[in-house]
Amino acid sequence: MRNKITVIGAGNVGANCAVWAAKKELGDVVLLDIEHPTLGSGVPKGKALDLLQTGPVEGFDVNVTGTTDYADTANSDVIIITAGFPRKPGMSRDDLLLANYNVVKAATEKAIAVSPNAIIIVVTNPLDAMAQVALMVSKFPKNRVIGMAGVLDSARFRTFIAQELDVSVDNVTAVVLGGHGDTMVPVVRLSSVAGIPLTELISEERLAAIVDRTRNGGAEVVKLQGTSAYYAPAASAVEMAESILRDRKKVLPCAAYLEGEYGINGLFVGVPCKIGSTGIEQIFEIKLTEAETAALHKSSGAVQELVDVIKAKMAE
Ligand code: NAI
Ligand code: 2OP
Repeated sequence: MRNKITVIGAGNVGANCAVWAAKKELGDVVLLDIEHPTLGSGVPKGKALDLLQTGPVEGFDVNVTGTTDYADTANSDVIIITAGFPRKPGMSRDDLLLANYNVVKAATEKAIAVSPNAIIIVVTNPLDAMAQVALMVSKFPKNRVIGMAGVLDSARFRTFIAQELDVSVDNVTAVVLGGHGDTMVPVVRLSSVAGIPLTELISEERLAAIVDRTRNGGAEVVKLQGTSAYYAPAASAVEMAESILRDRKKVLPCAAYLEGEYGINGLFVGVPCKIGSTGIEQIFEIKLTEAETAALHKSSGAVQELVDVIKAKMAE
């Protein structure tokens, strides 16, 4: 029997998650959105039908369906939550906090009611706080709720390094820690090109510019196209889903619920994780310098502020 992947939110990120998941034949894909005022359930159904008809061209045999009814998502192996509102120019990810809290809370409750054994990948922003909402609402074990940000942020870092040196992106490995925001921590010391430390290849000044561009990678796309990125975010979420569904045990930077690791407690923060069939199978605790630790704690402090707002809302 094929795996089943539900993507909640059939917008830009969600629809592209469905495309990547189908193309990789990860399993049957269900694309879920809310009822449209005039089109009813037509939007996710139409997108799913359109994508299904790509199968003969691209050579995939999985089924793709669209729905507004959570019953159709029953027994999913992986649930990718992209539902919510994207960032508009001038808006911070944090502005989205309370609006998307309501969306992620409802989506989590409805999805897990019919898929109690699924692994949840959260994409909705502000990412780390929304992953925490999914964990609190689902009451799943912490290994089964994972936030997607680090794969995207490190992909941006890798892209900029590859561009700078005119080398293949395949040769570039990059570590990005922390929350998915302006305080994220691209760790230059642990990033390399075919094993060669970045500091041997790129001047300090250029590295600082690349780190800065990575931190603002999301805003750069928003400024250009008027809404947030979706191709790379979707591909990143699906890389995580693939590692789960094929038990690849890839080491990926993901937002994980930390309980003491890196001196952080009770918070989702981006750290290197081994991702396999049971979700987060291991969190790698790298020895950091004092400056890196301080930057990571500054970043987790920013996540904590958002989570405090949500906890106060939940207690109302
Ligand atoms: P979009 O507006 O294109 O799609 C969002 C979809 O969610 C819409 O189709 C909307 O109808 C649907 N939706 C709203 N409320 C819903 C509900 N209660 N149940 C089901 N569906 C619902 O937005 P886009 O670009 O796809 O972004 C989605 C989210 O992902 C945003 O919060 C964005 O900030 C975030 N994002 C996160 C990234 C990350 O690295 N973690 C990267 C890119 C986007
Ligand atoms: C991004 O980094 C908006 O979080 C989204 O592109």
